[in-house]
Amino acid sequence: MAKIKCDKCSKEIETWGVVTVCPDCGADLQDQVREAERVTVAKAAEMVKDESATTHEFIVRTRGLTKVYKMGEVEVPALRGVDLDIRRGEYLSIMGPSGSGKSTLFNMIGGLDKPSSGSCFIDEVDLAQLTAFELAWLRCRKIGYIFQTFNLIPVMTALENVTLPMIFAGMSSDEMLERGRMLLELVGLGDRLNHKPFELSGGQQQRVAIARALANSPSIILADEPTGNLDLVTGKEIIALLKELNVGSGVTIISATHDLKMIDVSDRVVHIRDGQIERIERRSEIELQVGRLGEEEAG
Ligand SMILES: Nc1ncnc2c1ncn2[C@@H]1O[C@H](COP(=O)(O)OP(=O)(O)O)[C@@H](O)[C@H]1O
Ligand SMILES: [Mg+2]
Repeated sequence: MAKIKCDKCSKEIETWGVVTVCPDCGADLQDQVREAERVTVAKAAEMVKDESATTHEFIVRTRGLTKVYKMGEVEVPALRGVDLDIRRGEYLSIMGPSGSGKSTLFNMIGGLDKPSSGSCFIDEVDLAQLTAFELAWLRCRKIGYIFQTFNLIPVMTALENVTLPMIFAGMSSDEMLERGRMLLELVGLGDRLNHKPFELSGGQQQRVAIARALANSPSIILADEPTGNLDLVTGKEIIALLKELNVGSGVTIISATHDLKMIDVSDRVVHIRDGQIERIERRSEIELQVGRLGEEEAG
């Protein structure tokens, strides 16, 4: 978003590039809008570049995060004070029963919704301090999102779905096509570039969604129940792929889930209940549990 002042009548206007004529005096503001937006984009780009150059130990921090949904007269507390530090490169699972607040936490960390109180920091940047434009920039460049229902655009091919976020990041079309193909190959769909979502299985659609999440080389992948709509074998494949990406590229993975298969790839598991962290398990404790699960399955 850019703020400009009409050079004819001095009216102050906020614009997303949609308004190019002064609503008061009708002056053509196209050049002014373009210049103002160029400055905003340059500022945002610099901000993100500076931030990614620094390597804070914790890529995500939340402090006293609460969220209350208002449903008419009724207030639904979905998060009740969440303090969580997530390390760069970590594979973190947020586990909890349905309704415990996983998606709400996911939306706060991903900057998709605002907390009622408390703060969320991405690379030490307080999301609440960003302008709408800066937030949109951060969401586009730093975070890749994966959802239970894949959320692909049905009329677009796999390749078009994957390259879409690159358009917003301002990549050239040659670059986009090359990177899109490379990403679809990476997730094992090099031979499905021109298939539309309905021509793909659930697991394949989720692979396209993973490739799309990687479009702009994010430092964080947020996955909300990524295996929720998949059968056991396909779910395991998707988890393995996410783990591979995590180990191979160092991308931080934060996955909300109630799928126990997620446990053994996780560096930590955060158990959440009624909007609060109940306990956090580390790798060593998880291994013991996976061992026990294995014994139970065998016995
Ligand atoms: N948009 C919303 N409006 C009102 N209540 C909501 C909304 N989203 C979630 N909730 C409520 O907040 C609580 C946490 O929901 P959610 O974060 O979706 O849990 P989970 O993802 O763990 O299943 C639930 O009680 C749910 O009903
Ligand atoms: Mg949910």
